[in-house]
Amino acid sequence: MQRDTEIFNLIQKERERQTKGIELIASENFVSDQVMEAMGSVMTNKYAEGYPGKRYYGGCQVVDQSETIAIERAKKLYGAEWANVQPHSGAQANMAVFMACMKAGDTFMGMDLNHGGHLSHGSPVNFSGLMFHAISYEVKEETGTVDYDMMETRAMEGKPKIIIGGGSAYSRDWDWKRMREIADKCGALLMGDISHPSGLIAKGHLENAVKYCHIVTTTTHKTLRGPRGGMILLGKDFDNPWGKTTPKGEIKKMSALLDSAVFPGTQGGPLEHVIAAKAVALGEALTDDYDRYIVQVMKNAKMMSQAFMDKGYKVISGGTDNHLMLIDLRPKFPEMTGKEAENALVAADITVNKNMVPFDSRSAFKTSGLRVGTPAITTRGLKEDDMKGIVDMIDTVLCDPTEATIAKIRKQVNDMMIDRPLFAW
Ligand SMILES: Cc1ncc(COP(=O)(O)O)c(C=O)c1O
Repeated sequence: MQRDTEIFNLIQKERERQTKGIELIASENFVSDQVMEAMGSVMTNKYAEGYPGKRYYGGCQVVDQSETIAIERAKKLYGAEWANVQPHSGAQANMAVFMACMKAGDTFMGMDLNHGGHLSHGSPVNFSGLMFHAISYEVKEETGTVDYDMMETRAMEGKPKIIIGGGSAYSRDWDWKRMREIADKCGALLMGDISHPSGLIAKGHLENAVKYCHIVTTTTHKTLRGPRGGMILLGKDFDNPWGKTTPKGEIKKMSALLDSAVFPGTQGGPLEHVIAAKAVALGEALTDDYDRYIVQVMKNAKMMSQAFMDKGYKVISGGTDNHLMLIDLRPKFPEMTGKEAENALVAADITVNKNMVPFDSRSAFKTSGLRVGTPAITTRGLKEDDMKGIVDMIDTVLCDPTEATIAKIRKQVNDMMIDRPLFAW
């Protein structure tokens, strides 16, 4: 068969883009060679609807083994009692939880998207907001930290079936214990979406949501550094978190409800090549090497947020406990939108994403903020000493986003990154 040069040339271009740039998108990372190899393997050819030992197709004896290894490694890594590794993405994992625990029209509560929540936590353009009734909590304007008192008041008023902790642009640790108290008080299930700080939690550097939540969801491709995908985990309330009976009046195990909400509820055949790659990434995450990586991610983020503040930028909440920070551009550049800042930086091969900041005066298309994270640059070997230099380059571009300045910084960026290979092959 003729080689598809049209696509492979684009793959080569994307590889060059990734190699020469500084990647600061907080939700991105670079997988290892063996994670990549597993994803591009013959496992992609296999249909395996169902679960290990209970499939709707023959020939699943090998994928049964790799899916079981992925499940066991996930349980070990997070201290969970049960795991489902089939969700195709983080949003799919969340959808499965909603389908298992609510009926259409039921109320749930998540963090307001404009305050750092995720689309799948109740945005009106997402299934979560379209099919269910979403109420939300916010951060406090003075501190930029979650307003747990507001969460409690609104939960007692709205009586949600699920309360979701976790978000996409929140730089502080979550008070899972307090949220569990609130959930118990109003009769809700507590769901932790730890997609972002997943790797930090797995290695014990942030409070473990699995200890307090009824259900935990995560993506596998952010700090965890695996293939794109999702997982669902259950901790101590594993069997029947409702007590004697489910909302439907029957005694049913949560694990069975979640399994059938993933398949056949919301997905068909699992991506067994991705599940094999998840197993590889989970195996890597169990090592001390990965722990050293995560510690470095956190050190880099702290150093970078300090460097931004030293240059007069407003970092929401005054710093970070995790791998990301949210910058409000308005105090330093009142006229510049997040979109303009993102475009100027991308032209200099520094990739960031525009982001709403809490109490933003601009729309989601323009925004007043930037979200910046250190997982990807840490994978490429950058250390604390490099952070100030990166912030200097960002500041130079934003202070003077002219073509000449952008070209000068782009050269510095490319010189810095070119000797840091991404792949061994
Ligand atoms: C908190 C959170 N949940 C869910 C998701 C959705 O993950 P995916 O893009 O894999 O659907 C994201 C992705 O950014 C996220 O940040």
